[in-house]
Amino acid sequence: MSVTLAFDVYGTLIDTHAVVSKLEELIGDKAAEFSQTWRDKQLEYSFRRGLMRQYQTFAICTMHALEYTCSYYKVSLAPEQKDQLLNCYKTLAAFKDVKDGLRRLKVANYKLYAFSNGTAEAVENLLEAAGIRDLFDGVVSVDDIKTFKPDPAVYSHLLHKTAALASNTWLISSNPFDVIGAISCGIRAAWVQRSKDAIFDPWGVEPTIVVDSLEQLQQKIGEP
Ligand code: LAC
Repeated sequence: MSVTLAFDVYGTLIDTHAVVSKLEELIGDKAAEFSQTWRDKQLEYSFRRGLMRQYQTFAICTMHALEYTCSYYKVSLAPEQKDQLLNCYKTLAAFKDVKDGLRRLKVANYKLYAFSNGTAEAVENLLEAAGIRDLFDGVVSVDDIKTFKPDPAVYSHLLHKTAALASNTWLISSNPFDVIGAISCGIRAAWVQRSKDAIFDPWGVEPTIVVDSLEQLQQKIGEP
């Protein structure tokens, strides 16, 4: 039976901090900090909406997080400028190891899925814009069940949608909360540590493997 690799999208395949150059044009030297707060708040809003059972799409979490971040940094952006930033979010670039890394895994016969908090439509468009959609067997979105990672229901949904067994599935993610979420559901997980400064949550749950780029995956996971 072939091995299924489910890739987190934002932050793992797609670089969410690529908005920094657009932000620099709009707000100057606070751009990097602004981008980090925006991303942190976006995730916090998804966690809170999941807990409260008040689902709105990830794009809405992103939009509300942008509003919060503008207030936090006392930055006043015109509606068109906010739209430009949100549009940037729809066409972010992939990290540079992604295309070759995925291609290699596809050639080796792994089943590749994108697995995301984003809606299927948002993820399809994003992967298309990044030129990597054709490398995937499919897209699985939490939007189908109206909750967010790391709700255990989303990892069950992944297995259901891909018709895969947990024992033949790996989550590949740069987000520690996602890695811990998958492992807690019996799915092995690779943590893609994209920066030496990235910290894994000290919960006593370790990633099955740690890689610093997608290119190391095949060697560490083994044959499909
Ligand atoms: C995703 C977010 C969590 O793509 O990065 O699911």
